[in-house]
Order: sequence, then structure tokens, then C-alpha cells
Amino acid sequence: MYYETIIIKDTIQNAQKALSEHKDSIIESGNAFVFVRTEYDENFDVQNDFFDVIEFGNKLGLSYINTIVVPTAKRIEAELPDNVLYIVWFAKNREKMFFNKDSMRETHIWKNVEWGKREKNYNPKGKDPGNVWIPTKDDGKGNITEHILMDLPAIINRLFACGHQENHKTLFISNNSKDSELCNENIQFIHFINEIKPSFPTKQKMQMASENAIHYQTGLFAKVIWGTSENMSEIKNETVDLVVTSPPYWNLKDYFKKGQIGQESYPEYLERMNSVWKECYQKLKESGSLWININIRVKNNKPVLLPKDFINQCKKTGFYYKGILIWHKSSGIPTNDKNIVDRHEYVLVFSKGKDLTINEKIYSFADYKNKIINGGLFWNINRKAGSVGKHYIHPAIYPNDLVSRIVRSCTEENQIVLDPFLGSGTTLIASISANRNCYGYEYNEGFKSLIQNRIQNDVTLTSDFTLTI
Ligand SMILES: C[S@@+](CC[C@H](N)C(=O)[O-])C[C@H]1O[C@@H](n2cnc3c(N)ncnc32)[C@H](O)[C@@H]1O
Repeated sequence: MYYETIIIKDTIQNAQKALSEHKDSIIESGNAFVFVRTEYDENFDVQNDFFDVIEFGNKLGLSYINTIVVPTAKRIEAELPDNVLYIVWFAKNREKMFFNKDSMRETHIWKNVEWGKREKNYNPKGKDPGNVWIPTKDDGKGNITEHILMDLPAIINRLFACGHQENHKTLFISNNSKDSELCNENIQFIHFINEIKPSFPTKQKMQMASENAIHYQTGLFAKVIWGTSENMSEIKNETVDLVVTSPPYWNLKDYFKKGQIGQESYPEYLERMNSVWKECYQKLKESGSLWININIRVKNNKPVLLPKDFINQCKKTGFYYKGILIWHKSSGIPTNDKNIVDRHEYVLVFSKGKDLTINEKIYSFADYKNKIINGGLFWNINRKAGSVGKHYIHPAIYPNDLVSRIVRSCTEENQIVLDPFLGSGTTLIASISANRNCYGYEYNEGFKSLIQNRIQNDVTLTSDFTLTI
């Protein structure tokens, strides 16, 4: 029997097994969708994640297309409250794949609002679908009234519709026999018996940010150090409370200075990044954490699994891997007809000590008009218009709000934040605004006046504040 679509819903290792067993029954133009959740061990460290599935499918010879993320009502109460369902999407053959994009378009909230009154990009069939599935209801005047939590039948329907061609069938393989209720004459069901038990912790555990943080000084500092963060000898070991950063991708953007990280071969790039993570580890206190904003790239039709390589490096360095935060962006780069728009990036979270130190602010960001979605691992944060591109002379600025939330959720006033890839200074701005000290390393001094301008425009410095640029 051949299928146009297979859908697998299981634990990560079982899902991989099912994928390798059934991939040959997908027709050449067919697709596979693998539903998984992050799996944790009893110390709440991540054991398996969806990156493993991408790596596995790629090795099987399937073409990686995208990863869709959907919030779930059920949370895994690890140290970070995990409400993310990952749907890893492969095509049997990228060139021949069938995908009916129109079947999953959502209505424009309001043409004039959504498209800034530009007719050009307005599509009467609905807006370009993205890879974060949180549909909205609206009041007809451009205002969202509700964010919708999709349930399993709605998700299966969407996947069925986008891949359906005449005279072919979908195969749904699940470890839950009740899921057979979602099937009909077009969707065949296989109950895949769990051989490998899933590992989900049940009890919540949270290491609170220290209440009696040492207030060792009244004056705060922000210091930019010009040079490579492969060696951060200017900072004393075990003094930093938080490292938050968006590193240069490999072979993607040019930050205009010879010797920068990102332009060398992939193995050399990884080696240099490894030195940076090792330095971060040295500089962090035992209670400190490391938050890395990163995404998967697809180059020459193959996924470049930078996040997985960073995870392996950080674990080897001694960090504990605690989870993945989803930065949901409303804007996204339009893709071709055979794909959906990238509307999210990841933030990988690591702790130096066994437990992650965060405070209750992490639950307080009310980004969605739906209480069930808020307080989990989805953060809906828009970039300020113009923050990438012509108004600023830095090509990859991350939003203030993203860093600011991390800084406030992981540190107390007067503690120390470090960004090994400071760029235009976003981490510095977020730290100053929150009364935290900050060190930032940046390789290209050309960004000095940009950082100075941002400090002048975005923050007010008190008289006992020491700024070194
Ligand atoms: C993705 S950007 C960071 C952007 C930053 N988050 C912001 O909001 O502006 C990466 C930065 O790393 C810098 N960089 C590249 N190699 C470096 C190195 N060896 N040491 C320190 N910075 C480096 C680049 O110049 C670039 O500004």
C-alpha cells in the first residue's frame, strides 16, 4: 500500500523507528509529518528533542521542509513549562512534492490593517500560512479577539488537506489507540505499540533566583570589549549571572570585518564557537545560565543543524540542557509555493549548575489572547520595524523585548549579564534598562557609533553609571 501522507505521533525514538519502517510506502510526491515533544530526564534535563528527528529523517534520505510548532493545553512541567508540540515536516522528494498551500491559509484579519493598505501582497485566498499554528479570531476591524489553541483533529485535518491528492490515502501511526477515532475512509490508522517508554517528569521544580543577591555595589557598569569572545580574559571567572546572545550563523551574513566568526569552513566555525561556549562556562557562576538565540538553516536543500551542534558542544563543556523557547515573530520571510513562512526562531536554554535559576516573571508574559497559551514556551515578540536593514547599520538585530524578558527572568538587579556577540548592543540596552551590569564582546569596532546612538536614544543613564565603550 502506498500513501501520499504519513503522520507519526509518538515518542522521539519510536517515531524515528516508525519513520524508517514506513518511509518507502510514501509516494514520490508525498509528505511525512512527525509529531514529537521534547523529552526530559528526572533531573529535568532535555534528553531528546525534535532536532534529533530532523537529523534522523535527513539521514534516511528524506527532504526536510520545515518544523511547525503548535501550543498544547497539556504542559510538561519541567523547569521551563513546556507547551510545545513540534511537527517535523519531510517530503519524500523535494522536487516532486505536492503541497496545497491554499488549503491552510487563514483569513486576513483586515486587508487594510494587515497589508498596510498595500494591495500588492494581498491575497484574497487568505494570508500566507506560517510555521507557528496559533489561528486568531477578530472583530472585523483589525483587532484580534482570541488566539485559538488547535486540537488534534484540527491539526490532522490541516495536514490531510494540504497533502491530499486524488485516489491516495493518508497513514496515521500513533502510540495512542484512541487516535483511531480521528480516522476515516481516507485516513488509515496503525497503533504503534511503545517499545521505548517516554520520559516525562511530572513534578514541577524551580530554582528561584536568589532573593538575597549580593548587592556588592551601587554604581552599575556596562562595558563593551572590542575583540573576539574566543578569549574573554578581561572578565573574572565565575562572576557572570547570565549569558544571552545571538551568535553569527555560519556562512550567512557578513559583519564587515576580516577574521569574524562565520566565514570559515563549517568544522572551523564549530571549533571557534566551541571556544566561546567554553569561555562562557568559565565566566558564569554556578547558578548562571546561557540562552542562545538560533535557528535551523537549509542550505543546498539540506538542513544545517547549528542548534544541535551547539547543544552537543555545550553539553560536552559541562552545561545542562534545559529546554527550547519559541520566539514567535509575526513577520517572516515569504517562501516559495512548496513551503510555509518561517515565523519562529529558537532560544536554547542551558544552566551551568544542575538546576536552572529563573523567577516567576517567566510565567507572566501575556502575549496571547488565550490564558492556556500564555506562561509557556511561546513568546510572541515583534521586531521593531526597520530593526533589520536600512535604518540601522547592523544586519541582524534581535528585539529588545526578547533579551529584556530573559534578563528579568534570570537575574536580579545589580547582577551581571554577558553577551559574547554584542552586535548593535541590544543586550547592553536591555541590561541597563533593568539595572543590571553588562559586558559585551564585539569583534567589529565599526558598530561603536551605532551602540552609542542606541544608548543615547533608548536609555537614561544615572550619574554613578560607568559606561565603557
Ligand atoms: C547576530 S549578530 C548579534 C546581533 C545582536 N544580538 C544585536 O541585537 O545587535 C552577531 C555579531 O557577532 C559579531 N562577531 C563575529 N565574530 C565575532 C567574534 N569572534 N567575537 C565577537 N563578536 C563577533 C558580529 O560582528 C556580529 O555583530
